[in-house]
Amino acid sequence: MPTFPEDFVFGAATASYQIEGAVHEGGRGTSIWDTFSHTPGRVDRGDTGDVACDHYHRWTEDLDILAELGVDAYRFSVAWPRIQPTGVGSANQAGLDFYSRLVDGLLARGITPFVTLYHWDLPQTLEDKGGWRDRDTAYRFADYADLVARELGDRVGEWATLNEPWCAAMLGYGSGVHAPGVANPKAALDASHHLNLAHGLGVQALRASTTSPVGIVVNVHQLWPASDSEQDMDAWARADAVGNWMYLDPILKGRYDDLTLAATAKHSSWEVIADGDLDIISQPIDFVGLNYYSGQYVAGGGTSEGHTPWVGAEDARFILANDHLTDMGWAIIPRGLTDLLVRVHERYPDIDLIVSENGAAMVDVVSDDGAIHDADRIAYLEGHIGAVADALALGVPVKGYYEWSLLDNFEWALGCSKRFGIVRVDYDTQARTWKDSAKWYQSFLATRTLGE
Ligand code: FCB
Repeated sequence: MPTFPEDFVFGAATASYQIEGAVHEGGRGTSIWDTFSHTPGRVDRGDTGDVACDHYHRWTEDLDILAELGVDAYRFSVAWPRIQPTGVGSANQAGLDFYSRLVDGLLARGITPFVTLYHWDLPQTLEDKGGWRDRDTAYRFADYADLVARELGDRVGEWATLNEPWCAAMLGYGSGVHAPGVANPKAALDASHHLNLAHGLGVQALRASTTSPVGIVVNVHQLWPASDSEQDMDAWARADAVGNWMYLDPILKGRYDDLTLAATAKHSSWEVIADGDLDIISQPIDFVGLNYYSGQYVAGGGTSEGHTPWVGAEDARFILANDHLTDMGWAIIPRGLTDLLVRVHERYPDIDLIVSENGAAMVDVVSDDGAIHDADRIAYLEGHIGAVADALALGVPVKGYYEWSLLDNFEWALGCSKRFGIVRVDYDTQARTWKDSAKWYQSFLATRTLGE
């Protein structure tokens, strides 16, 4: 029966804009997601994060749920515009106080706080000056990191600078399906480098005020070549480079790999890389967090229509790994998580890994008795936690697993229609209801042993 090391950390994860609501309270400024979600046509059904799970007011109830679940740690993000409403200048004390209370509330319940500094809610004022296209935003991020670290310092057990820079750059500025909704390959590449730089500067700022572990969270796509034909292998290798190693190589190896630079040369000469940047970006970190949901096969020979986030791999065609899909249309493939952990470990043998997000949106049905019998989500979680155990058995240094998500929440461009929570949120009443998957996670956490 697969079991886990004593010090293995099990948690649950959320992000600020997806759950907090209260967008006009506590002196919070406007973020790019406020602007984007209020732009007609950008988000399904016109949903916004204005109220979301109203976590800003209900956080004690939510922390009680975490405690009852029995998690070791909770990964959440800080909303930059609560700390610096316009992205610059001194801290807004009400914003710091909110997160300070949250951190103390977690510690009082014996739960380790894991803070992500940037989970996509850039202050709109910074976007108005160019956002991540502008080098200066990286320095503003460092100032913000410094303000948060001074306040929360060692009370936070783990720090991540950014969440998924690929999504922030490529969905935000490449395909434009995420905020700020720009569709320009050169802008997406510039944003990628500035996010990498922000990470490095952010690590420096954090280290000045904390001795806790510091890292980054990325979505390394689990990709397999569709065949061993030259065309498929070539498209796969480029998709892997621009989708994955464009972020982790500079951070962990201090350079962009040749394939990344060659594949993107038609869009950029990478003049944004200034002398010394790679030294800043590559300073030591303590862990890499990997968000995993699915895997895909990659074939070549495609023609990209419209704007693709796969800048440099525009000819790549993505093929579902199977037809066993979640409500996101993502193939369920637990083995992909083992493969991913092994692959990342082989490329970067010295770094500890954390599964910082994993979970599934399913079509939940509320039964007459009010229960949600989400056996499909339980199977998903059980399969993927098993996949982590397999990676551990293969010698991969995986240190933790965070279920996404604690609550149903605002799923970005798909709005509130996609439900990832193990706890259901009724958006009319804000009532929280434990789904069967939450009860399953609770009983799993009591033993930390998977059945056969
Ligand atoms: C990840 C995001 C997270 C959530 C999940 C489903 O890409 O980090 O906020 O939306 O996908």
